[in-house]
Amino acid sequence: ARLVVLVSGSGTNLQALIDAAADPAFGAEIVAVGADRDGIAGLTRAEKAGIPTFVHRVKDYAERTEWDEALTAATAFHSPDLIVSAGFMKILGGAFMTRFAGRIVNTHPALLPSFPGAHGVRDALAYGVKVTGCTVHLVDEGVDTGPIIAQGVVEVADSDYLDEGEALHERIKDVERKLLVDAVGRLARLGHRIDGRRVLIPAPSA
Ligand code: GRF
Repeated sequence: ARLVVLVSGSGTNLQALIDAAADPAFGAEIVAVGADRDGIAGLTRAEKAGIPTFVHRVKDYAERTEWDEALTAATAFHSPDLIVSAGFMKILGGAFMTRFAGRIVNTHPALLPSFPGAHGVRDALAYGVKVTGCTVHLVDEGVDTGPIIAQGVVEVADSDYLDEGEALHERIKDVERKLLVDAVGRLARLGHRIDGRRVLIPAPSA
């Protein structure tokens, strides 16, 4: 399967996918990495791995719909089977959603449907939960509302209140990278279909 990965930051989830894809048995090849900003570690990781990159910044377009169309065209150019939003911090637009419906995977650092949005770790801490985690899901029109593929649990420690969730986010990301690699690998090798709120991935044949 051909993957386009979208990033906005450090790209450690991208790196986990790059590392996994080095093994042909993973079943997916990262054909391009897209970003909504320059100068981020995620792009450097792609370049080091010899993966083509593209950047489309919202502020370079008069209208957000123009940005959406540019991002859609740049992504479509690489003919992906799956798109992975791995710490991509922009809400995808209508053109992108229509073009790649049912084939966009996102990872979120909380146990959805709790704590959607840009501050999943901070919001979970503020609420005072004792467990949180991460969710890999398909993207639909809402923000972090699409059908869930996999979730991982992380316990909250009292000390997590001392650093505004920094250490907690790192523990979540440890779980998140493995969860994402596993989920993307299964989708790439086995395919999937969507049945209401459920993402059905066939069992591997023996
Ligand atoms: C991840 O926790 C992702 O869920 C989020 O931001 C983080 C991205 O980390 N919203 P990285 O860029 O993959 O290191």
